[in-house]
Amino acid sequence: MGHPVLQRIADSVADPTAPEIRALVDAMIESMAEAQGIGLAAPQIHVSRRVVVLMVPEVRTDPEDPEDTGMPLTVLINPEIEPLGDEKIGDWEACLSLPGLTGLVPRYKRIRYSWSTLSGEREERIASGFHARAVQHECDHLDGILYPMRMTDLSSLAFVEEMRRFSSDQEQPRRAAE
Ligand code: NI
Repeated sequence: MGHPVLQRIADSVADPTAPEIRALVDAMIESMAEAQGIGLAAPQIHVSRRVVVLMVPEVRTDPEDPEDTGMPLTVLINPEIEPLGDEKIGDWEACLSLPGLTGLVPRYKRIRYSWSTLSGEREERIASGFHARAVQHECDHLDGILYPMRMTDLSSLAFVEEMRRFSSDQEQPRRAAE
């Protein structure tokens, strides 16, 4: 946080099949794995391109919600999000660009999103709950938005370590996105 590349609108990818995009994705996956994150956007490694890598662990999703599904590591190039309905829900998020911090962030409950694959095909899916949250968090990075800018009550912005020391079991923050 504070690096100008995280504040600007990232550039669209003209050719998702270009070797430079494959190389960028490889570097992103490596950084994400190193940081033990579940998602990463290109600006987080200081490359201003509209590229996200994301996986949604099954354990984070709501088994009662058929649209909140796990997803293996997926590359999203030029992703676009359309909220489905106005409903927002709050949950804890963290971000590799704000180490040690967590906050309660309202996000659209249900979205449709689309993206280009590395082979240049356009795909789309509907997601809700945690899955939808993770997509919204990562795509915000492409528009220069970090999660505190989405918070409506900054009193929940906290250091994870302090929250662990002082919070009771029912309000344990977890890393909801990266
Ligand atoms: Ni993040």
